[in-house]
Amino acid sequence: MKPCHFRRGIAVLVAVLSAVTAIHDCLAEQKKSVGIDTAQVPKWTSEDLNFFLHGSMSTEVGPEPVLRAFIKIYPDLFPREDLTYLGLIPDSDFGWPIGFSRKDEVQHLGSLRAVGLNCAACHVAEIHSLEGAAPVRVLGATSHFDAEAFFGVVILATFRTADPANMKRFASAYLASVDPDAGESTQELLANEWERQKEKIATEMKADPFGSKDVEPGALHQIEPGALVLDDEILEHEKDLAAFSHSILKLFHNMRAALHIPDQLDQAAAKRGAAHNTANCVSCHGGAESDKRLYSVAEVGTDPHRAELFTKEQAARFNKFLAELEATGYQPSKEEGLRSTGKYSAASMDGVWARSPYLHNGSVRTMQELLTPPAQRAKTFHRGSRDYDATQLGYTDAGPYLFDTSSRGNSNAGHNYGTALTADQKHDLLEYLKTL
Ligand code: HEC
Ligand code: HEC
Repeated sequence: MKPCHFRRGIAVLVAVLSAVTAIHDCLAEQKKSVGIDTAQVPKWTSEDLNFFLHGSMSTEVGPEPVLRAFIKIYPDLFPREDLTYLGLIPDSDFGWPIGFSRKDEVQHLGSLRAVGLNCAACHVAEIHSLEGAAPVRVLGATSHFDAEAFFGVVILATFRTADPANMKRFASAYLASVDPDAGESTQELLANEWERQKEKIATEMKADPFGSKDVEPGALHQIEPGALVLDDEILEHEKDLAAFSHSILKLFHNMRAALHIPDQLDQAAAKRGAAHNTANCVSCHGGAESDKRLYSVAEVGTDPHRAELFTKEQAARFNKFLAELEATGYQPSKEEGLRSTGKYSAASMDGVWARSPYLHNGSVRTMQELLTPPAQRAKTFHRGSRDYDATQLGYTDAGPYLFDTSSRGNSNAGHNYGTALTADQKHDLLEYLKTL
């Protein structure tokens, strides 16, 4: 069977409705024909198979009604409700794609029913044969799931909903999801109550847009289950919608904290900061991974010891070790894996906020400091703190170990890039770097 394929002209020529019907029919047909051949796992019961496809590994990422509401109100972030565009395989019987799990009363997510991911999201593939045979779903094969893209849009949606107008749309979609019986009259009740409490909602949201007040960085709020309830009855009793909105913001904080994403983000600044990154950093840190991303110590100016120590002889010793290593299932590579270049690599900036302290020797505590001229960087600092400073991007100067930049191999010199930017420009650049 052919995969669902739609020529662009169709949507233009035919009424949208019939195109939608065509998509629906095609998917329905596919669904019928694509099952999982249990001969792949002859010893599994149907419960085993179901657990592999949808069992929870306690990786719950977001409450089900929250994700449903995001999908409904942000079609630019979630262009298809079934999430197939992310490389996921739909499973309409379950309601979420293969590899999604569902768990009731997840405490850190406001005790709501939440979905998570398991191995099957990345390890079940649907394969379409060129010869026209029916597609097969192969357990264990690597899928096309783009997990980063999925987490990226969920996080973006939480930030977007910190805007009161979006929160209003969110509340309506959330109500429809938590209370499927809520009809037009309940929606109207919500709209009226919202209008009545509008100012208070805006004030309360503005006071804590990221729901991160009164909680240690990375720590989780205790959210009373009642705080997130929205239904007909409670709306009739003049539900405090400002408190509800604030609880939702706290819930978003918890979602991000569980994913270790810093949540104090100044979006306007981040937008401006992108230009500073392009002008000052991308020439080295962007583009494909290749030898072009290697820079000599003389050029970057950071501590030379690591580059000098990793000589050709040292690389050869590692390669000999790897070639002679014997372990069950291990196949030594035929190519030499390690080589000495005498240079440092300008690594990708993805997730750079999480890599404090910076540089190959961890000699610069925060990103703010890396953007400070080397002579003004701290000469010593403590390591071992778990408290993360989301303004400067780095762990705080605390902990049991004193790092002394005057010791051999510990120099914090060099890498002067961006140090001449103004304080405002640096702030914007930091905000942008948080988004990577
Ligand atoms: C976000 C996607 C993702 C998730 C979730 C995931 N994996 Fe993987 N896994 C991969 C990728 C990608 C590879 C590399 C596949 C390749 O090289 O072809 C891989 C490789 C593997 C391999 C090695 C396969 C081989 O041939 O060497 C094993 C074993 C494995 N995964 C098991 C698991 C288990 C068990 C889980 C759940 C606890 C899991 N994976 C969850 C993406 C994922
Ligand atoms: C001329 C090339 C070049 C430019 C321009 C450049 N970098 Fe780098 N960067 C490097 C190299 C090479 C390293 C590795 C140096 C080391 O570890 O000693 C590095 C390391 C880093 C690290 C440490 C990464 C880690 O995981 O510890 C950060 C952060 C960083 N750069 C940020 C920036 C920022 C922000 C800019 C723009 C203001 C920038 N860089 C501009 C070449 C460059």
